[in-house]
Amino acid sequence: MLKHIIRYMLVPAFALVIVINGYKWFNTKFGGDAGNTSQVESSGEASIGGAFTLTNQNGEKISDKDFTGRMMLVYFGFTNCPDICPTDMATITQAMEELGSNADDIQPIFITIDPERDNIQQLKNFIGNFYNTFQALTGTAEEIAQVANEYRVYSKKVDSAELSQYTMDHSAYIYLMDRKGKYLTHFRHDQPVEEIVDGLRKYINF
Ligand code: NI
Repeated sequence: MLKHIIRYMLVPAFALVIVINGYKWFNTKFGGDAGNTSQVESSGEASIGGAFTLTNQNGEKISDKDFTGRMMLVYFGFTNCPDICPTDMATITQAMEELGSNADDIQPIFITIDPERDNIQQLKNFIGNFYNTFQALTGTAEEIAQVANEYRVYSKKVDSAELSQYTMDHSAYIYLMDRKGKYLTHFRHDQPVEEIVDGLRKYINF
């Protein structure tokens, strides 16, 4: 975590750009306030999510059908992310922990938008820092592009003057999908853990 904090302090403006761009993009795509989930739900237009077959941190093929009967909490990011992704992943982890036994009802899923660097070993190292039922998924560039498109995820490779390697500009929303893989709602970056826990509880034990 300290490493993330130090890296974050080196690139605060950059992280801000990611959030602002992701926010602008989301507003463009869905209209209205990206923080107001009810607007997305009530629009009837938002078709978020879809089928996927990807590879997890253990090298196993995983599809959305494997999680039928449970809700999926889906987050797109990349393991080299200086701040946004580790923060959101820690938030999801904390929310899952606070759900206690109800957490069994929810499958947390991390999908990389950087398949070029996020191979199986990289995912395994990364996901070990977070909630123990997390599935971390990667795939070919085509597979990732398809699932990102299904979830309306914005991502873009960006060369950074501050960092030795390229980084990724990306939207950061946490999607909650129902037991058949249909979109229920989403949570935004920096949403307090308690709000996320309350949001999840609304759908548990339906
Ligand atoms: Ni990120």
